[in-house]
Amino acid sequence: MASESQPPSQPLGLRDDAQRPTATVSKPIPQDNVFILEQTPQLIALLTMIRDKNTGRADFIFYSNRIIRLLVEEGLNHLPVVGHEISTPVGRHYVGVKFEGKICGVSIMRAGESMEQGLRDCCRSVRIGKILIQRDEETSKPKLYYDKLPEDIADRWVLLLDPMLATGGSALMAVEVLKNRGVPEDHILFLNLIASPEGIKKFADEYPKVRVVTAFVDQGLDEKNYIVPGLGDFGDRFYTM
Ligand code: URA
Repeated sequence: MASESQPPSQPLGLRDDAQRPTATVSKPIPQDNVFILEQTPQLIALLTMIRDKNTGRADFIFYSNRIIRLLVEEGLNHLPVVGHEISTPVGRHYVGVKFEGKICGVSIMRAGESMEQGLRDCCRSVRIGKILIQRDEETSKPKLYYDKLPEDIADRWVLLLDPMLATGGSALMAVEVLKNRGVPEDHILFLNLIASPEGIKKFADEYPKVRVVTAFVDQGLDEKNYIVPGLGDFGDRFYTM
């Protein structure tokens, strides 16, 4: 159920203090495996666009993709690097770093597939796997219906993709699938646009070694387990409406 406490808000933007608009920002989360994107005016403006029920499909896709790009870029900061020294065209040396290890994306179908292109835009020819989890009609528990994952997934860093973390049931099961395929928990990074406080807490407590990168922790869940204030059904808005 949605929490009764006041949502956190902060003044945003580069105006005189008296003119700076106040906006609702993400709830903080105490778990140290959860990384919430910096609540910049840009991020809040992008989230405002996709939350708006009057935003049409083309704009919803465009602005979602911009947030997904921010999530992927932040997610990549959590992967290991090694020292790498190079020579520049003007004959000098530069001491830098390069990424170490192989990665792959795994999308939780269908909404997670919307995040694949953002990952491909940052990591050329990245391998992508898929997991389909749906609620079992009889038990009303999440059930694994399908998975297609790279053979060598146990040797890769996995970026797990799902834009909405509501009760956490699908994400928890997806991590179980990855672990059963030999992926160590601390090689999994979960990228998410909007989470409910209860879902992200459950997930982060159950898998303290999995890192979660999210753009926003919202107020709560309604009686149908939609995130509130949320943005409605992400898959419907991205793929059909
Ligand atoms: N999935 C969605 O698309 N929206 C929600 O609010 C919760 C789960």
